[in-house]
Amino acid sequence: MRRKRALITGASSGIGLAFAHHCARRGMDVVLVARRQERLRALAKELAEGHSITATVEVADLADPGAPAQIESSLAEAGLEIDTLINNAGYGLAGSFLLHKWEVHQRFLQVMLHSVCELTHRLLPAMIERGHGRVIIVSSVAGLLPGTAGHTLYAAVKAALNLFVESLALEQGRSDVHVTALCPGFTWSEFHDVNGTRERVSKLPRWMWLDAERVAGEGLAACERGDTYCIPGIVYRALSLLPRLIPFRLSQEISRRRGGAFRDPKGAISSGQKIPAGETDGNEEEGQK
Ligand SMILES: NC(=O)c1ccc[n+]([C@@H]2O[C@H](COP(=O)([O-])OP(=O)(O)OC[C@H]3O[C@@H](n4cnc5c(N)ncnc54)[C@H](OP(=O)(O)O)[C@@H]3O)[C@@H](O)[C@H]2O)c1
Repeated sequence: MRRKRALITGASSGIGLAFAHHCARRGMDVVLVARRQERLRALAKELAEGHSITATVEVADLADPGAPAQIESSLAEAGLEIDTLINNAGYGLAGSFLLHKWEVHQRFLQVMLHSVCELTHRLLPAMIERGHGRVIIVSSVAGLLPGTAGHTLYAAVKAALNLFVESLALEQGRSDVHVTALCPGFTWSEFHDVNGTRERVSKLPRWMWLDAERVAGEGLAACERGDTYCIPGIVYRALSLLPRLIPFRLSQEISRRRGGAFRDPKGAISSGQKIPAGETDGNEEEGQK
């Protein structure tokens, strides 16, 4: 019996990093995907040594439309089967829709939507064939709430992912292939540093913040149970119900008044996501075969 193996996108930081630790603690092999090679290599070493598992590094920029196919062929070449796919990599674009050039939105859609659907499309068939699989798509509670000005495409993409998961989960029926949308609210990670909203969101009360370890742990447990949705924290579970209980015009008005607390409807003109320094290419493997 081989060990189960999870592929985690965006494993170099935040929620993805927490997923990697959870999976390794559960004795799973891991394939770690992101752009920052040095971080991934250090993490692979730590997990392989700490948990006697195999950790493989797959450096990829998911804004590249060829990345999902490249990941699939690297896995095939190395003979690595994936039992759990965690589509987690992502970022936000602060500011109104027209503040960014179209190319910036195009890259955003590629990372946040296209790469998620394509990786799932490429890796799901083998799970179905083996009769066992887990797919977690890290969405957001933003995809369950009315739109806010600023971060304009973000909630739209997450709402699309939620519906994608709902349908995909139904397609798997009562099989042992589970598909889950993980919908966190504000979570401590590098997310708000990358999109430049740290100062604004740091004014939010502490009770609004979730811990990445908890978010990842609850996501894995929900997927194991076969839940279609996982919304960590009672505050966010209640919040996500609100738009279903009150008229849309009222929830949109609340969004208009309160949205400015965490979204800048205008925002600074930016060329898009801050690409972290030290981005390099290459794949490495650590630990046991
Ligand atoms: N933090 C929150 O408040 C919050 C709330 C709801 C949902 N989420 C969702 O949670 C997920 C993880 O975000 P996080 O909070 O953990 O943020 P984070 O700490 O900034 O981590 C984002 C991860 O995505 C990777 N990534 C970004 N762009 C990429 C690209 N082009 N190619 C490959 N990897 C890329 C980053 O790796 P590299 O930079 O090394 O490539 C990093 O590992 C996202 O989908 C986000 O939308 C976050």
